[in-house]
Amino acid sequence: MSTVVTGIGELVTHDERFTSDLGVVTDAAVVVEDGRVAWTGPARHAPAADRVIDLAGRAVIPGFVDSHTHLVFAGDRAEEFEARMVGRPYDGGGIASTVAATRAATDDQLRANLVRLVAEMRSQGTTTIEVKSGYGLAVADEVRSLRLAGEVTDEVTYLGAHVVPPEHRGRERDYLDLVTGEMLAACAPHARWVDVFCEPASATAFDGDAAREVLLAGQRAGLGLRVHANQLGAGPGVRLAVELGAASADHCTHLTDADVDALAAGTTVATLLPTIEFSTRSPYPDARRLLAAGAVVALATDCNPGSGFSSSMPLAIALAVREMRMTTAEALRAATLGGAQALRRDDVGHLRVGACADLTVLDAPSYRHLAYRPGVPLARALDLS
Ligand code: NIG
Ligand code: FE
Repeated sequence: MSTVVTGIGELVTHDERFTSDLGVVTDAAVVVEDGRVAWTGPARHAPAADRVIDLAGRAVIPGFVDSHTHLVFAGDRAEEFEARMVGRPYDGGGIASTVAATRAATDDQLRANLVRLVAEMRSQGTTTIEVKSGYGLAVADEVRSLRLAGEVTDEVTYLGAHVVPPEHRGRERDYLDLVTGEMLAACAPHARWVDVFCEPASATAFDGDAAREVLLAGQRAGLGLRVHANQLGAGPGVRLAVELGAASADHCTHLTDADVDALAAGTTVATLLPTIEFSTRSPYPDARRLLAAGAVVALATDCNPGSGFSSSMPLAIALAVREMRMTTAEALRAATLGGAQALRRDDVGHLRVGACADLTVLDAPSYRHLAYRPGVPLARALDLS
């Protein structure tokens, strides 16, 4: 069946056929056939279709691509958030409490929380989601997390190297052997990506040498690479990500000139997570410096129960504009095309002919309202079923 979605006041396509910034078409229509974009352009030229959906002047954008989330968990760390708001710094130490709660949860409890969060994201306009493990940190618990993640997305990431779990403290070498050996072998069939929390400034995360071991082992097992890099302080994560050809270096909060130059010269996307700086009361990454150097920037939520429990790409966009001085167009590009590039996907993040028909509708006349109206629930994924 074909559908023409018409009455679109402003359509963002990222299609270079339309020479305006972001490939914007006004008074537009989109024809969808078999789940793919079959035609875009001015509504008055739209071909006929089996069904018509009239959006009465609303804006349509490509669905958000949230390329970094941790949605398989149990429990809640609201108290840790409140302690941060009165001055306690974030150091990743609270991850252990989520690991304990996640291990104690049943499959159905984890699944119910995961499905609820995915629905929450879709209702805010997100149509592609990456999901990491990392709150199991034992072979069976990591496999279970990845299996559950695979029920909601193809973009599944093995993060056995999130932190060294409490039962391995003081025996970090053993844990690294497990993560790169038996745990990796059990997890790789259920994942597309491997990630590591490379953060020498955290007592429980991994230094550059350990992170290199994890990434190289994951690569040998056929996984693509991603890195949690330079969140709490400057360190080797970003340059390691670029050197090994990782798809993305995520956080990028503390960057040296050499880090910025490496990102600009390489193929690794700099994924910025401003809801984390918001929720940890930390300085925001310097997006302007990255953009000026020519790096590709993505925005994602990093939705997790600890460092930032927001599932909202519109909030990430509003913060990127208000706090990181991105233009709204730059922020929207980063939240769609940038996220797709961070996942090495060319079928999402845009609405060119042939793309997945992931349309997000705004209860607003323009994408600009995403930053102009912070906190207002304007965006939703369009249900074409
Ligand atoms: O991306 N940095 C490490 N991992 C997550 C936080 C996880 C947590 O605090 O539970 C992050 O911020
Ligand atoms: Fe994260």
